[in-house]
Amino acid sequence: MPTVMKATLLIPAVVLAAFLSLTEATCDLKDIRLYDNGEESQTKGMLQICDGTQWTAVCDYQWRQVFSIALCQDLGHANPTPLTVSNNGSWPSIRYVSRYTSLYSTPSCHYNNESIAACLTSSSYYVTSTYARYYYCNTNRDTLFIQCDFDMGTCTRGSIRLYNNGSTSSTTNGTSGMLQMCDTSGRWTAVCGYSWGCRESRVACRQLGYTANNAQYIINAGPWPIFGFGPYSSCSSSATSLSSCYSYSSYYRQTTRYCNPLATTIRLTCQTGSQTNESCSENYKIRIVNKKETETSIEGRVEVCYRNAWTPFCRSLYSGYYYYYLNSAQIGAAMCNSLDDSRVATDLSVLYRDNRFGVSTSGMESITRISCPGSTTSGLKYCSFTQGSYSYYSCSNCPGSLGLKCFYRTDCNEGEVRLVNGTIDREGRLEICTNGVWGGFCANSFRKSAAHVACKQAGYGDVMGAIIYTNGEFGVGDGPVLYGNVECFGHENYIADCSKNIAPNFTCYSYAPVGLLCRDNCSEGSVRLTGGRHSYEGYAEVCVDGIWTLISDNGWDDIDARVVCKQLKAYGTSAGEKVDNPPYTRSNKATRFSNVNCNGKEDMIEDCRHHTIELEEGKTFDGPVAAVDCKVTVSITVPSPSQTSQTSNTGRSLKREDTILGSGVGLLILAISILVIGITIMACIIMRMRKLSIAKGGRNTDREQTTMQHSRLEEEDAYDAIRDPNPVSVTTKPHYDDEMLS
Ligand SMILES: *[C@@H]1O[C@H](CO)[C@@H](O)[C@H](O)[C@H]1NC(C)=O
Ligand SMILES: *[C@@H]1O[C@H](CO)[C@@H](O)[C@H](O)[C@H]1NC(C)=O
Ligand SMILES: *[C@@H]1O[C@H](CO)[C@@H](O)[C@H](O)[C@H]1NC(C)=O
Ligand SMILES: *[C@@H]1O[C@H](CO)[C@@H](O)[C@H](O)[C@H]1NC(C)=O
Ligand SMILES: *[C@@H]1O[C@H](CO)[C@@H](O)[C@H](O)[C@H]1NC(C)=O
Ligand SMILES: *[C@@H]1O[C@H](CO)[C@@H](O)[C@H](O)[C@H]1NC(C)=O
Ligand SMILES: *[C@@H]1O[C@H](CO)[C@@H](O)[C@H](O)[C@H]1NC(C)=O
Ligand SMILES: *[C@@H]1O[C@H](CO)[C@@H](O)[C@H](O)[C@H]1NC(C)=O
Repeated sequence: MPTVMKATLLIPAVVLAAFLSLTEATCDLKDIRLYDNGEESQTKGMLQICDGTQWTAVCDYQWRQVFSIALCQDLGHANPTPLTVSNNGSWPSIRYVSRYTSLYSTPSCHYNNESIAACLTSSSYYVTSTYARYYYCNTNRDTLFIQCDFDMGTCTRGSIRLYNNGSTSSTTNGTSGMLQMCDTSGRWTAVCGYSWGCRESRVACRQLGYTANNAQYIINAGPWPIFGFGPYSSCSSSATSLSSCYSYSSYYRQTTRYCNPLATTIRLTCQTGSQTNESCSENYKIRIVNKKETETSIEGRVEVCYRNAWTPFCRSLYSGYYYYYLNSAQIGAAMCNSLDDSRVATDLSVLYRDNRFGVSTSGMESITRISCPGSTTSGLKYCSFTQGSYSYYSCSNCPGSLGLKCFYRTDCNEGEVRLVNGTIDREGRLEICTNGVWGGFCANSFRKSAAHVACKQAGYGDVMGAIIYTNGEFGVGDGPVLYGNVECFGHENYIADCSKNIAPNFTCYSYAPVGLLCRDNCSEGSVRLTGGRHSYEGYAEVCVDGIWTLISDNGWDDIDARVVCKQLKAYGTSAGEKVDNPPYTRSNKATRFSNVNCNGKEDMIEDCRHHTIELEEGKTFDGPVAAVDCKVTVSITVPSPSQTSQTSNTGRSLKREDTILGSGVGLLILAISILVIGITIMACIIMRMRKLSIAKGGRNTDREQTTMQHSRLEEEDAYDAIRDPNPVSVTTKPHYDDEMLS
């Protein structure tokens, strides 16, 4: 006791004591105590030290069992086996106390006949950082409870038990608890969890009389004074008791680095009940249990007839390290090929490791490893299986059984492609029909040229620059991943003509199959109106990044609408206006253009102030979009230019007739007059201009007629007369002049 200090601090201490809460007496610096139920105890309680004026709790951070032993010795306990509980209770103040000691000795100062209290407090300090206060030395949590007279109980050497708060496995349900073993001196000691594994867990469960399979363990079952078995314990799978397994020296056991009595104990859970060993006759056949069946597939937990018992596969099944062994897609295929069902498509499968079809409860030891040489056609007949060697760290990595899906052949057209589950036009997950099954494309190394061919084949035109999604934008789909390592030149018309691997002969590492957004053949900045009765009314679409996109009606007004009409070279542009609640048919395009604010002088909508929305944002936008009526009076209903070529070809002749009938003689005469004048005056000029235009690659260099540039739409020329008031264009197609109205 530092009596000198006590004397010098007497007066201030008394004052302070009166000042402080009456429940806390003053104390001597470096005093240490166990505090239990409101009073100091010689045997058990919360560990506290005195900071000179008041008692503060000792933080459990880096506390070691050897400190507890030394402390209990100082308190007069002979050969103590103290129980040390961390995270035990709260105290208003906390102090971190530590002292470097060699890993398996008592603190060095103890050998100098110094008290453990003096030794430890010589290096103690307050925890000041908020972080450490919260995470390591939390006054509500990180205190220590030490019980010096803890009785570990006597036992018969070599026996083991699952310990639960004073109850052993024989008195509770007992399938779960801290694993303890009776040591050479006949005391229950905790088994060290360092390097503990499933094989050891199974040996322990078997020794306790439980089913060995599906044993599970967690390291950190709580504190226990002394370690016995382990670390680096290692049992052979045939061992019947832990004592027959190999265990490393006590050096490792006593180091907190490997075996920390406060943290490295094992909670073991064994399974009761005996194995329900369901017999089968035809080895290497598979069956699907817990199955779900649809018209196109069958899926469920997969089991194989192995040694005449139905045996599940562990979901973490892996195999095929060697190039001549089957990869996991091929193993799935071999499994489906082993299903006796003629509807099942050969060589196609999906393996599920997410335990979606539940866990096998048969108690049969799962097959955790499988290697199959050769081909998939012989099924699993020549495969070799390993049962029950689970992963190194935890049996709980493998509590589940493998799921398998096999596919039934449908009548899809071989080689056909489609985009599915997109939200806007021209996008979706890419699928191909192979062997009567729709499936996706592996996203690893799927490049632009392949996307180009796919879009072309899917009927979206020979337009470069499709956007490739590899992030599962359109879901992963229900089908297999059919194509991998696809390499196209770009000129191919069918993706099947590209070089590729077909399932199951490749390993796909990507999470989701390929998704595509095929571009439109539009030129940047051009506009069009769709969904109206003719091409001068409808929803405004602008070409952004080669994709027709709708315009949000946010801030849309008549001035903006007139710029669209101006850009379309519509007649009566000054009368163009926005349309609220339009009766038009909305196209399934993304809305990616918003907050348009034109001043009216712009020639193109693109030149107006606006915001372009990224594709990802725009996709989901389904609010109202901008509509325009250019106030071009058209007497008849004509198909929208965005419709297909067939319908518009029909529409063309109808339209001519209707127009002529509907417009009246006066207009007809007027139109013919315009035509005649047009031809007479402009013919030469036009011919020259056309030649010029062709020489320039057919492009409208002054961008005056943006919609003209979409001549791939065959119907376009049917509308040119209406759409294009430019005399140049009119005279090139004089036979439609009669469709033009004042
Ligand atoms: C602290 O641990 C001891 C021993 O296990 C226990 O009796 C006591 O209830 C615990 N106290 C708190 C507050 O957790
Ligand atoms: C500590 O005390 C013991 C007996 O009380 C004595 O034998 C030993 O020499 C002392 N050690 C030291 C370093 O003083
Ligand atoms: C241990 O058992 C005692 C009495 O049986 C009970 O009061 C206490 O809550 C139990 N502790 C734990 C952690 O289960
Ligand atoms: C004991 O087992 C029964 C039935 O398996 C279960 O309902 C009960 O919760 C278990 N009790 C304990 C303490 O685990
Ligand atoms: C199935 O059960 C029988 C008898 O219970 C046993 O001899 C046989 O080894 C078991 N088979 C497997 C694969 O566990
Ligand atoms: C469609 O795509 C969404 C994600 O955009 C996905 O959540 C969903 O599962 C997909 N549906 C199908 C049938 O693929
Ligand atoms: C996969 O590879 C095997 C062996 O090279 C071959 O026999 C089989 O036809 C291939 N399957 C497909 C679908 O390409
Ligand atoms: C795309 O449009 C341009 C200009 O209108 C045209 O020359 C070209 O043939 C079109 N390409 C396709 C694949 O339709």
